[in-house]
Amino acid sequence: MNKQIFVLNGPNLNLLGTREPEIYGDFKLEDIKTRLKKLAGDLGVKVDFRQSNHEGELIDWIHEAGEKKAAIILNAGAYTHTSVALMDALMAVECDCIEVHLSNIFKREDFRHHSYVSKVSLGIISGLGAKGYDLALLALNDSIT
Ligand code: DQA
Repeated sequence: MNKQIFVLNGPNLNLLGTREPEIYGDFKLEDIKTRLKKLAGDLGVKVDFRQSNHEGELIDWIHEAGEKKAAIILNAGAYTHTSVALMDALMAVECDCIEVHLSNIFKREDFRHHSYVSKVSLGIISGLGAKGYDLALLALNDSIT
């Protein structure tokens, strides 16, 4: 196993399962992790799955991904729409990154239509629920060496 992918989840995603299930579904973050780890095992990819409610911790993890030359799947939650600091971190490390959102952010409030993360990502998967993480993993598996 030489491919490594950091899967970084931002604020409030620890509440999946009870948080607005009509928008985000009734599965937990742990369910997404279990499903993704299984796919990663099949692909021979090492997945490091994390969640934080703190912007600085997410930035530290992006730096760590850079040091380890890992690729990144990032659901930055609300920081997607606000954080120049996360965008700068992604630019600094030059890791391949795919942005994921459970909900379709373009169907929702106007303030969710803008993403700082998109500016520095290979692509974005939004609105496909937990499956979006799997699709991001498949895409990165093809693009990283
Ligand atoms: C989200 C969409 C964001 O707008 C929101 O702030 C989240 C979750 C999603 O996965 O759909 O926290 O990233």
